[in-house]
Amino acid sequence: MEFNWQPREVPEVSTPYRRIKTKIPAPETVPFLERLRRIEPRATLSQPPILWHRAEGFSIYDRAGNKWVDFTSGVLVANAGYKREKMHEAMLSQLETGVWHTFLFANEPRARFVEKLREVAPPGLDVVFLLTTGSESTEHALKLMRTFGQTRGGKRKIGIVCFEGAFHGRTLGAQQIGGTPYLKEWIVNLDPDIHMAPFPDCHRCPVGKEGYAECEDECFGQLLSFLEERLGGKDYQGRLAGVITESYQGGEARFMPKGYVERLAEWCRANQILLTFDEVQAGFGRTGKFFAFEHYGVEPDLICCGKGISGCLPLSAVIGRGEIMRQFPPGALTNTHSGNPISCAAALAHLELILEEDLVSKAQALEAVLREEAEAIARACPDIVWPIRVRGLVGAIGLVEPNTKKPAVALAFAAVQRAVEKGLMLFAPVGPGPATIKINPPLIITEDALRDGMAALREAIVECRRELY
Ligand SMILES: Cc1ncc(COP(=O)(O)O)c(C=O)c1O
Repeated sequence: MEFNWQPREVPEVSTPYRRIKTKIPAPETVPFLERLRRIEPRATLSQPPILWHRAEGFSIYDRAGNKWVDFTSGVLVANAGYKREKMHEAMLSQLETGVWHTFLFANEPRARFVEKLREVAPPGLDVVFLLTTGSESTEHALKLMRTFGQTRGGKRKIGIVCFEGAFHGRTLGAQQIGGTPYLKEWIVNLDPDIHMAPFPDCHRCPVGKEGYAECEDECFGQLLSFLEERLGGKDYQGRLAGVITESYQGGEARFMPKGYVERLAEWCRANQILLTFDEVQAGFGRTGKFFAFEHYGVEPDLICCGKGISGCLPLSAVIGRGEIMRQFPPGALTNTHSGNPISCAAALAHLELILEEDLVSKAQALEAVLREEAEAIARACPDIVWPIRVRGLVGAIGLVEPNTKKPAVALAFAAVQRAVEKGLMLFAPVGPGPATIKINPPLIITEDALRDGMAALREAIVECRRELY
């Protein structure tokens, strides 16, 4: 589905956090939007048509002076907010050196940043490889797991287990471990050693239970039966190199049950199968823990980071155990923009802000407010809201056709567009349908602003429900 790009007359809005005083999109922004539409592929023009002109804290402005409270953080990138003085200064002082790019030649910000990153990484994960995008980090984790598997079990130990519904990026390997079939139809000859397992989601229980009932053994048993059947034979574990899962699945903010992950980690350890968490959108405080996998209390072998790792510029990383990360000889890992000095300067300042301002605890504390507001939306329209998931400052509100569990795509797009017209910045619906509205404000948002944005979202959903059904 596409958003309407024609300027539309909308009611004026004025709160301390939102200001709408023109048609939306503002007519003076339309020439820029039109340029993009003429030149870029349709597929990139998937977001509400607002021209971001200025941003500060958790506010975004267009050229006409309209102001939005931001529930996107870009796409879960600006965890410490926009235009932070400390990041600004760090980037400026690196700009002034003229060292804007160094390839893999050493630079100071890179040395400082990897050291700081290792300090916040889980114990035992002490080697960092910097890359540029989240997709590169998951591709690289695949390569590390497969290579390591072969050192333990020869050419047959190359299988990778991943999960239905997962998203790990859009490059070839990342798409193959992604769990949305239509996204990889173009590949045709999929890798037979990538095994897509059912995701243990208590809202859509793979073993047919209603709600959570301490059934992790059964649920995890289903994974083992699936693998045994798919791989055939008793020693199927000997053909598996690794498991990769998002710490929570981004589309709907779906966490695995803790007990399931405990069993998974134990089983991986017992069978020399590496466990990787994709923290690309989950990390850097978003869920009320520094890394979201910490909610499970297990120890992974590798983690993939991206998005919020830098707070702004393109940067990603794989962080892992030394014996896995040090498999390749000098020169075997290169990346043109790995450890770009300006990206690293920004990322170090961003990371320091997260720590100094204790944004992890802040996200944890605001979880209750976000949940309360999301539940108020569900109470206002109980027939079309399902499911709601909240952890830290990530929220997901699914919209369904009245009294069904069928994703309501047109309703979700209409509600996002209406919310944007009310001064709440949201990205396009994601997840099944796509019909899930994701809530991801910068972690510096105040309680008052969070409630104000949620009030706009509630109004938008209630109005669109009334108009569409
Ligand atoms: C969990 C996860 N992994 C990987 C990626 C890919 O990151 P990038 O778009 O930077 O390649 C994304 C992006 O949305 C993501 O959410």
